[in-house]
Amino acid sequence: MTLFYFLLCMLCAASCTKTPPPPPRKYNSITSFGDSLADTGNFLLSGALPFSVVGNLPYGETFFQRPTGRCSNGRLIVDFFAEAYGLPYLPPYLAIVDGVKYENGVNFAVAGATALDAEFYADKKLGHFLWTNSSLSVQLGWFKKLKSTLCTTRQECDNYFKKSLFLVGEIGGNDYNYPLFGGASPKELEALVPLVLEKIISTASTLIEEGAVELLVPGNLPIGCLPAYLTLFLTPEKAAYDRNGCLRAHNAFAKFHNKQLQFALGSLRAKYPHAKIMYADYYNAAKKYVHNPLHHGFTNGVLAACCGGGGSFNFNSSASCGRTGSKTCTNPSTYANWDGIHLTEAAYGLIAKALIRGPFTSPRIQ
Ligand SMILES: *[C@@H]1O[C@H](CO)[C@@H](O)[C@H](O)[C@H]1NC(C)=O
Ligand SMILES: *[C@@H]1O[C@H](CO)[C@@H](O)[C@H](O)[C@H]1NC(C)=O
Repeated sequence: MTLFYFLLCMLCAASCTKTPPPPPRKYNSITSFGDSLADTGNFLLSGALPFSVVGNLPYGETFFQRPTGRCSNGRLIVDFFAEAYGLPYLPPYLAIVDGVKYENGVNFAVAGATALDAEFYADKKLGHFLWTNSSLSVQLGWFKKLKSTLCTTRQECDNYFKKSLFLVGEIGGNDYNYPLFGGASPKELEALVPLVLEKIISTASTLIEEGAVELLVPGNLPIGCLPAYLTLFLTPEKAAYDRNGCLRAHNAFAKFHNKQLQFALGSLRAKYPHAKIMYADYYNAAKKYVHNPLHHGFTNGVLAACCGGGGSFNFNSSASCGRTGSKTCTNPSTYANWDGIHLTEAAYGLIAKALIRGPFTSPRIQ
């Protein structure tokens, strides 16, 4: 036996024979609700918009190398969660096939979805802005329908769902986007916050009543740093911007929503002490790279989109990403923003890591 083989055997004796069994999976499934930050294909499959740009490249170009209906160049936060917990990527609800048991979870999120029902916006004459009617209650209805294919008795359902991670959002961002794009000021939107939160909390309560035990409820991103907002709400007033170049009033509004959400989650924890109700701090997880873009590889900064129709923030609503007049950057991982509203896979990956490894969920997920 040569020395090489001897050493190899020594190594094997030390490691190969004592391969520890894989650790038990923390979650057996992920059940996801929300909007375009989490949609893995429902909006596209819904056919709500016949020629949606997300159905074409460059959407999906980086990771999947084809459009999947995700509003990004690659994976979303929910995909990074699936990877981290050893689960397959979640199929969108509208792609599921009758007779198949989706034991590793399903994604109910729909791009453009609001927490409040579509009728609410129709009554406010904002209905024409809505991309979809698949609000949070519609998604909850889908979940209830699917549930009967996963388990039947209360005991069986409880056993199944206690090992599922429920991602309740991000949702609510569009409830504010539609009125903002319709001309409302961030201050005027504050009246909408209690209604949006009530819907998120009542949905989380229903899920707990249905058997959910571990829930992660994300807050809003620093929307004042998004290229679409920076373009649409451009102002010569220097005081309107913070030291990172983000719109103060819009970020302040996101923080207001987040603070109220955390408060509401506190009451929910008191009502359901057996459940682990976690707040996901998307805002501060994203703020980390906003404060220090270079450190996170965003050599092209965080305020301009990778894909868009030009201008200071590479956003032009008449030439948005995927449409005539827009161009895609050569290296999306050097940008935090993908298309003016949604983030790049690189940014979603950073946020997911910050949530899973900490400390941006409260209580901690691990
Ligand atoms: C939403 O529902 C209304 C009323 O049923 C319908 O007129 C509208 O086309 C729907 N919008 C979308 C985007 O599906
Ligand atoms: C936005 O795009 C449209 C369509 O390509 C173009 O006509 C317009 O000049 C662009 N606006 C700006 C500010 O670049």
